[in-house]
Amino acid sequence: MASGSGTNFEAIAQAIADHQLHATIQVVIYNNPDAKVAARAERWGVPAVLLNHQNFASREDLDDAIVKTLQQHGVEWAIMAGWMRIVTSVLIDAFPDRVINIHPSLLPSFKGAHAVEQTLKAGVKIAGCTVHLVRLEVDSGPILMQAAVPVLPNDTVETLQARIQVQEHQIFPQAIAIAAQR
Ligand code: GAR
Repeated sequence: MASGSGTNFEAIAQAIADHQLHATIQVVIYNNPDAKVAARAERWGVPAVLLNHQNFASREDLDDAIVKTLQQHGVEWAIMAGWMRIVTSVLIDAFPDRVINIHPSLLPSFKGAHAVEQTLKAGVKIAGCTVHLVRLEVDSGPILMQAAVPVLPNDTVETLQARIQVQEHQIFPQAIAIAAQR
């Protein structure tokens, strides 16, 4: 499940191709018609399904369509790789302990949609990313892996985000493997 560029999707696909993660990506669901992840999925030969959140009356209705799509494709684990919608119990209960999210902060600090901005504003010197199991409360849930990066004096949101993303691409496939081995 992805809303944007899809670099994390690609890191997972690459880890699978490199035999570092024993998995298959059955389908990519994206909610934003302009999301670059769709083109990346096509390049990797993965079906991509657009479920535009604007076409659904409620978060639950969107999640219901997501669950049906995942089930139709035989999916066992739902991976939120830059999914920028709040999910509901409709998704979480359909895949108990099998929904994983990545977030660009060292949780529990800086939850929400603007984590990197919040990190910079807070003036902390260490930033990072977290992979965790998804619970109903946003950006909470058991932590699978984290990685830290320094915040440098002249960092912008873009430069810090880029440094965090290098680590995201490292830990996300590893964290999925850890979750699957539990
Ligand atoms: C990632 O940095 C991820 O941590 C963040 O969106 C980005 C997606 O990048 N997720 C969130 O902020 C979730 N609240 P990508 O599309 O290149 O993988």
